[in-house]
Amino acid sequence: MANYYDSMKKKNLIIFGTRPEAIKMAPLVKAFLKNNFFETKVCVTAQHREMLDQVLDFFEITPDFDLNLMKPGQNLYSLTADIITGLQPVLEEFKPDFVYVHGDTTTTMGASIASFYSGAKVCHIEAGLRTFNKKSPFPEEINRTITGHIADYHFAPTRTANDNLLREGIKKESILITGNTVIDALLESVSRVDNLDDVEINNLKTEVDFTKRIILVTGHRRENHGQGFVNICNALKKIGESVDNVQIIYPVHLNPKVQKPVYDILGKLENIKLIAPLAYPAFVWLMSKCELVITDSGGVQEEAPSLGKPVLVMRDTTERPEAVDAGTVILVGTNEEKIVNETLSLLNNPEKYLSMSKLHNPYGDGNASKRIVEFIQNIGK
Ligand code: UD1
Ligand code: UDP
Repeated sequence: MANYYDSMKKKNLIIFGTRPEAIKMAPLVKAFLKNNFFETKVCVTAQHREMLDQVLDFFEITPDFDLNLMKPGQNLYSLTADIITGLQPVLEEFKPDFVYVHGDTTTTMGASIASFYSGAKVCHIEAGLRTFNKKSPFPEEINRTITGHIADYHFAPTRTANDNLLREGIKKESILITGNTVIDALLESVSRVDNLDDVEINNLKTEVDFTKRIILVTGHRRENHGQGFVNICNALKKIGESVDNVQIIYPVHLNPKVQKPVYDILGKLENIKLIAPLAYPAFVWLMSKCELVITDSGGVQEEAPSLGKPVLVMRDTTERPEAVDAGTVILVGTNEEKIVNETLSLLNNPEKYLSMSKLHNPYGDGNASKRIVEFIQNIGK
C-alpha cells in the first residue's frame, strides 16, 4: 500500500512505441526509476512489436502498460486513432503529472494529444528538429511540429533545435538544450558490446567476412517506399557488383513495403548479405566494425559520426544538419547514380575517407537524461 511519502511523489508516465524511441528513451527511464522524487511508469503503444521488444530486452525495461497496437501493414489513420483511444484508460487510471514523449512518430503525436486532453504536462524529448518540408520526412516533420506546439517543456538536443523552437514562438524558459539521449544510450552500450557474450554478435563474427570492407545499410522511410527503394536496391546491387573486396550487410526493417523490394532485388547476390533487424547491441557492435554506413535512418545518422564512421544519407533533406555541416555526413537522396558514385569515391579515395571519418560528436555528451531529470525535478519542487 502506498504510504504518505509515496502519495506526495510526482507521477511520470514515459510513453513510446517504436524501436528508435525505445532506444532513446531507455536512458531516461533508467534515470527516472533511480530517482525517489518521482513515481515513474512506462507505457508502450507497441506501434512496433518485435523491434520494440528487442530493445526492451536489452535495456531490461518491463512496461507497466502495453497497448500492443501493431498490426501488419498498419496505416496512419487507424494507428493514430488507436493510440489516442488506447491511452485514455491508462491516463485516467494513473493520472500522471508529467508525460514524456520522444521525437516524431505517430506514437509521439498521438500520445501528446491524448496527454494534453488528460491535463498532464507534456515533455517533448528530442524537440525542435525541423526540415521545414512537410513531405520529408513524412509524416514525421508534422508529427514533431504538432508535438512541439502541444508540449509544455521542450528538450532540444542541439542549439539549432533550440533556435528553431524560439523562431516558432516557444518560450525560452520552457526549453532546455540537453544533447541527444541517443548518445547516452550509445556510450553506455558501446562500452559493453565488445565483451558481451551475445548470440547475434557471435553469429556476426562467423558470418560476416571481415577480411572485406564492410558497408552497413539500413532503410525504412515512408517517402522512400516504391521507386525510392527500387533505386536504393539497384545502387547497392551495382556497388556489390563493381567492387569485389566489399561486403554489404543490410539488416532489413520488418515493414513489408521494405522487405519486398529489398529481398526481390538483392536476395541472391554474392556480396550482399540481407539479415533480420539486429538487436541494439549487435547493431552497435557492427556499426563500430564497419567502414561506411549508408542509411535513411534518423538515429543511425546521429550514432555513426560518434563512432567515426562516414555516413551517406539516402534522403533529400535532414532535420539533423549538424553532422552534414561538420562534413561527416553526405546527403545522397535516393538517386541511384549519386549513391553509387559517392560510395565508390569514399572507398577509392583514402583522403576523403579520412576527412569524413574524423570522430565527431555534435549530438551530445552522454548526460542528456540527467539534465532532463534535474530540470523536471526543479519544476516539481
Ligand atoms: C515508424 C515511424 C518512423 C520511425 C520508424 C523506426 C511513424 C509514422 N513512423 O515507421 O518515424 O523512423 O518507425 O523504425 O510513426 N513491423 C513489424 N514488426 C516491427 C515493426 C514493424 O512487423 O517490430 C512492420 C508491420 O507490418 C508494421 C509496419 O512494419 O505495420 C510499419 O510499421 P510503422 O511503425 O507503421 O512504420 P515504420 O516504417 O516502422
Ligand atoms: N538499430 C538496431 N538494429 C538494426 C538497425 C538499427 O538496433 O538492425 C538501431 C540504431 O542503432 C538506431 C535505431 O535503431 O538507434 C534507428 O532506428 P530506425 O532507423 O528504425 O528509426 P529512425 O531513427 O529513422 O527513426
